[in-house]
Amino acid sequence: MNPNFITIFDTTLRDGEQSPGATLTSAEKLEIARNLSRLGVTVIEAGFPAASPDDLEAVRRIAEEVGNPPPGESELGAQVPIICGLARANKADIDAAWQAVAPAARPRIHTFLATSPIHMQYKLRMDPEDVVDRVREMVSYARSLCPDVEFSPEDAGRSDPEFLYLVLGEAIKAGATTLNIPDTVGYTTPEEFSRLISGIIANTPGIENTIVSVHCHDDLGLATANTLAGIQAGARQAEVTVNGIGERAGNTSLEEVVMALLTRRSVFGFETGIDTTQISRVSRMVSNYTGIPVQPNKAIVGANAFAHEAGIHQDGMLKHNQTYEIMRPESVGISRSRLVLGKHSGRHALKIHLAEMGYELTSEELDRTFARVKELADKKKTITDADLEALVEDQAGGDHEFFRLEGLQVTCGTMGMPTATVRLVGPDEEVHVQAAIGTGPVDASYKAIDAIVGLGNILLEFNIHAITEGIDALGEVTVRLQADNGSLPKRTSPQNGQTHVRTFGGYGADTDIIVASAKAYLSALNKLLFAHQMSSSRSSQAAILQI
Ligand code: KIV
Ligand code: ZN
Repeated sequence: MNPNFITIFDTTLRDGEQSPGATLTSAEKLEIARNLSRLGVTVIEAGFPAASPDDLEAVRRIAEEVGNPPPGESELGAQVPIICGLARANKADIDAAWQAVAPAARPRIHTFLATSPIHMQYKLRMDPEDVVDRVREMVSYARSLCPDVEFSPEDAGRSDPEFLYLVLGEAIKAGATTLNIPDTVGYTTPEEFSRLISGIIANTPGIENTIVSVHCHDDLGLATANTLAGIQAGARQAEVTVNGIGERAGNTSLEEVVMALLTRRSVFGFETGIDTTQISRVSRMVSNYTGIPVQPNKAIVGANAFAHEAGIHQDGMLKHNQTYEIMRPESVGISRSRLVLGKHSGRHALKIHLAEMGYELTSEELDRTFARVKELADKKKTITDADLEALVEDQAGGDHEFFRLEGLQVTCGTMGMPTATVRLVGPDEEVHVQAAIGTGPVDASYKAIDAIVGLGNILLEFNIHAITEGIDALGEVTVRLQADNGSLPKRTSPQNGQTHVRTFGGYGADTDIIVASAKAYLSALNKLLFAHQMSSSRSSQAAILQI
């Protein structure tokens, strides 16, 4: 094992997906997992399989399709990622995690139990001795199923270090191969976290044969600093999410840790195996699929991260780019508007180009994208990678598409009432037409869509922006909504077992921003409809079982 290698453990699809509104369809999860693999992450935590049968199935699909080499390639040559599933420290969760990850060439079960006094007393209502017994029993059970087992003492940042040494030592004896140290509530400072990691490494029996991992939350904005401090103290795995998404203020962001390690290599001396030129693309994909926009001033992936507005900075940049730029935008995959396709490009060229960008489309999806590229080429002089990404991602999640937009007509302006007429194709290919008035063209369109779909909801967020520069740019819209009766659908948090109302994100792109808005709304509604369908089929199954 290379002592200078930092394993990048990506938990975008598990801890990241726990952030409000980040609900992803299984097709979107699979696409993100494929691209995380392409990015070069060593471990993909693909989900929490015990949460629901759909979550289990989504992890299983990733294990099968991303966790195995392509047909004809050997496992070693293909460098497939480890596929990991999260489980609370109980047999049912561990069984579900194993069922989900077993098809992967390199499966991992990640189990956890809280060790801080406050969690043990109030959340678990367990004595410390019982916690130690449960860890021993459950790690050993996980290890009887899977050769690669990670254990996390939840809320380690607020746990008694002496107790941690004991619990971790027992986890090692029971077969844990990775020990992950979470700062679950983002409470520690870099200096404290560094001391915690060094203390664990110095005092835990058997730790030298395991990998120590760090998992930080960003409640005080210290997640990246704490992760880097943990690495300097001896951790060799960092748990991160793309764009830093996650519960509350989020997790440590992948792009910040990877670029800090690379840009300040002389300070840290570590490598990660990440192809950094993929970062910006994967960041946009995660933002589009989750419906969670990236703040403009976000390090590495924010829209302004490489923009130089002030005259004095622009002057310096013109004289020498390193005056104000410590990384080249190209190193994270920001190309300055690359022309890729024109009006006369063929379907095959598009297919090859999309494959180079990391998209695997079915023949039907390729046909649809090709038609839209041609349509866009009539309206827009140059089509860039960013445009292509938007066109592909705007069609993702097709396996949950109940309603699709076939036509939209709006009248608006200062003279009269904004009116929209929409034509949707529904389940069973039925065509529905509806008109509505609203406070503006978007509101009118949404009201017309609501009248057809008939699903009460609360629109929580609406964001719109242009993808590229120029008046002919594609506009992209992200929305977030939730069911308005509060009764459906809910999701269970692996940490506290509590359920909370799920919110759903949607994405749409088009040269017409009202069309983009309607598509984004429909894509979120389709996810909500799917969740409704799954929960009602589950309750009718439960009813049948009770009879
Ligand atoms: O933050 C946390 O403690 C977690 C654990 C499940 C590792 O996400
Ligand atoms: Zn976490």
